[in-house]
Amino acid sequence: MSRAQLIHTPEEVVRIRRAARVTAAVRDEIAAAAHPGMTTFDLDQIAGEIIRATGGKSAFLNYHGYPGNICISLNDEVVHGIGRPDRVILDGDIVSIDVGVAVDGAMGDTALTFGFGELNSEISRLLDGTGKALLAGCAAARRGNRVRDISMAVEKAARHAGLGIVRDYVGHGCGIRLHEPPEVPNFVMGGDSPRLLPGMVICIEPMLTLGGGAVTLDREDGWTARTRDGSWSAHFEHMVLITDNEPEILTWQKTM
Ligand code: MF3
Ligand code: CO
Ligand code: CO
Repeated sequence: MSRAQLIHTPEEVVRIRRAARVTAAVRDEIAAAAHPGMTTFDLDQIAGEIIRATGGKSAFLNYHGYPGNICISLNDEVVHGIGRPDRVILDGDIVSIDVGVAVDGAMGDTALTFGFGELNSEISRLLDGTGKALLAGCAAARRGNRVRDISMAVEKAARHAGLGIVRDYVGHGCGIRLHEPPEVPNFVMGGDSPRLLPGMVICIEPMLTLGGGAVTLDREDGWTARTRDGSWSAHFEHMVLITDNEPEILTWQKTM
């Protein structure tokens, strides 16, 4: 992959930063609107309204045929859950929302997992551990490091928390298209690894579990990924700009 494909121009970075900020605000508004007793379809519809109010568009709707405004994944669902009128959010569930908004030709992509009421210590370990793995990855997103350094930081944090790592899905470059090179695995892979340079924008998104890392795809909807062993899973995602100095977390907001 050539450098030109990985590195955004300053003009693009301005638009990407704006799209990321909008997406983070949308993510937090959706999280604040979620509550037990509502269906995941209702939450998806509310998300659609919140996205429209920004003047942007869902980056996921119709992406490779995806039918939702956002992804909503509960409990043992890892990623890409679709809002359903027959799926009620219950007290004690954990909910991952993954939100993408296209604004002025640029993309934001960010995700968050949260629970309701008192969380038992295992669920807290899952949510805290996955959030920390994301931040460890972000801290490694520095000029001169390689993508592998991000992977290593996430993997280390996941192991430290005793959590399983989902390997079938990875982080990615982002900005003008939703998914751009490079791939950013949540574990160290052999082979070449691109060097991180200013102007690269990377989505770091650990998907961790209280059990194993194997997943299965829902046979009916073709999208929802669940853990094979039924263990619960969390997913956090930030978009990070590589700069000359500190990493700039483009989707940072008060709740994360
Ligand atoms: N948001 C996902 C990611 O973080 C991609 C969702 S694509 C969709 O890369 F089609 F499922 F929405
Ligand atoms: Co995402
Ligand atoms: Co992503």
